[in-house]
Amino acid sequence: MQLLDFSADLSRSNNQYTQLAERYDDLTPRLEPIRRDAHQLLRLTACDVVMDVGCGTGKSLAALSASVGPGGKVLAVEPCAAMMQQAKARARSQRLANIQFIDSAVEAMSAHVAGGQVNAFLLMFTHDVLQSDAALAALMAAAKPDARFALAGGKFFAGPLAILNPWVQWRQRPYCTTFADYDAPWRKLCAMSGFRTEHLAERYGGIAYLAGGAWSVETS
Ligand SMILES: C[S@@+](CC[C@H](N)C(=O)[O-])C[C@H]1O[C@@H](n2cnc3c(N)ncnc32)[C@H](O)[C@@H]1O
Repeated sequence: MQLLDFSADLSRSNNQYTQLAERYDDLTPRLEPIRRDAHQLLRLTACDVVMDVGCGTGKSLAALSASVGPGGKVLAVEPCAAMMQQAKARARSQRLANIQFIDSAVEAMSAHVAGGQVNAFLLMFTHDVLQSDAALAALMAAAKPDARFALAGGKFFAGPLAILNPWVQWRQRPYCTTFADYDAPWRKLCAMSGFRTEHLAERYGGIAYLAGGAWSVETS
């Protein structure tokens, strides 16, 4: 079901998150259980390079940093300066040393990220990124063979509860600029040639999802 269908709009997204940045952590405490589960799906090991796509205020950085250790690296990609400012402050206060901050949208990050170096990608509540062909192509260009992906986010209800979807869309408007594929936000990524979906489950009563998988360069 799509109540509105328009492309993601980066400039509008940056404006929205500039307004939200100071309140973002207070508005999103209930995401922590699904954040932990998404992190586990990545199966990170020491020395991995992991990308936190749309890292926001940096709520995933400490766990990712600890999992890859001093020999690994966390690439924290974020286009909204106000959100990134908070991510950097968080990393400083937590003394996280293995983070590389990339002040950019995913679509434009190639100048900062060498191709074929990333073992794992975390996409926590980044619906706009998942709907952008250019963003997905940029992720695949950065991926190592068999790179792992974990994605979590909001979605529309299915079945009888779909009657509530106008309310869902109203609630989520501050957080994304397109509702294309909001019935199955993972659809575009999981349909990419060479992508193996290994986990897909509804969460929070059907209003969110958690998905994981791997992308094999050889079979694409
Ligand atoms: C709902 S927030 C999620 C933040 C963080 N991942 C978390 O778990 O708290 C979505 C984030 O995606 C970022 N974003 C939007 N479009 C993006 C793009 N094209 N490339 C990278 N990040 C993007 C926004 O600026 C925002 O910080």
